[in-house]
Amino acid sequence: MKRKHFLSFCLLVPLLASCGGGGNIPITTEDYGHTLSMSGDEFKILQLTDIHWCLSTNIPRQKEYMDLLVEKTNPDFIVITGDSLFTATKNIASALYDYIDSLDIPYAVVYGNHDMQGMWSNAWMNENVVRENAALSILNDEIPGFTNWYIDIEKDGETIWQLFGIDSNSYQQDGVSYDYGYIHEEQVDWYESCVKEGVPSLGFIHIPLQEWKKAHEEDPDGIIGEMTEGNSPSSTPSAFFESAKNHNMKGIFCGHDHANDWNGLYEGVVLGYGVKCGKELYYGVSEDGYDITGAALYTIRSDKSFQIRHIYLDNDTFEFTGDVSWEDSAL
Ligand SMILES: [Fe+2]
Repeated sequence: MKRKHFLSFCLLVPLLASCGGGGNIPITTEDYGHTLSMSGDEFKILQLTDIHWCLSTNIPRQKEYMDLLVEKTNPDFIVITGDSLFTATKNIASALYDYIDSLDIPYAVVYGNHDMQGMWSNAWMNENVVRENAALSILNDEIPGFTNWYIDIEKDGETIWQLFGIDSNSYQQDGVSYDYGYIHEEQVDWYESCVKEGVPSLGFIHIPLQEWKKAHEEDPDGIIGEMTEGNSPSSTPSAFFESAKNHNMKGIFCGHDHANDWNGLYEGVVLGYGVKCGKELYYGVSEDGYDITGAALYTIRSDKSFQIRHIYLDNDTFEFTGDVSWEDSAL
């Protein structure tokens, strides 16, 4: 079962208000971690990305949409890879996480570049996403980004997989121009401090790394999914891919480019997009004419193998329009 690191409201607010400046409470690597159990021989992770609830969102209908995805996949864990909101209100932001928490499934979040764009403080949003079923802690630390976390997946008392969430850091300003954020060196150091050597892992981020472009140039067909728009990484390179590759990370999955659900293999690691959840803001249409909307499901197994599945659900008709999968045994 998950181990909770709950900071009380009274404790959390002053800590987050000074986030980046360091606090007086010593933070250990374990404080970033939670533990979930694999009860049988597999563990299913549902990735919801770029939900983008906004002022015009029909919330009851979008809850039904996500209900269908959850019913179809029956996940053990839900990871939300950023941009859950866009020009929303506090009420909308609360309604989204009320809904996510009501599913009674452990979940974690990495922020996208839009999650803090609203009439709320960083502290308010951090409090909003960490509900009862959250398997992440947001700590007062000096590591860039708020949503850096890991989860140990245990079976029979042994960690057999790890999951990592790494914050992509929204934007960086260069004079009057803005560029997307990236995973900083301090985050790579933090990641390396949390890795259990020899244990396979999956990583979840919002903004793709520059390696997504290289992977697509090398193999445009990839292993699953489609590219119907370009990649939009930061112009600043990150050392994260090289480190992840050297520490047994089997796949890294992002959101951000809504019209893409392409996944490819690059230097032995799967680099891929999830599937945009619903139609808010914009979405892609596949070569075969179905909407690239729905969710991605990752099944990790006790034998260290894993499967990627993309499930397409039309946001108008609520019909499942497709289902594709890839097994790492194909390597
Ligand atoms: Fe984004």
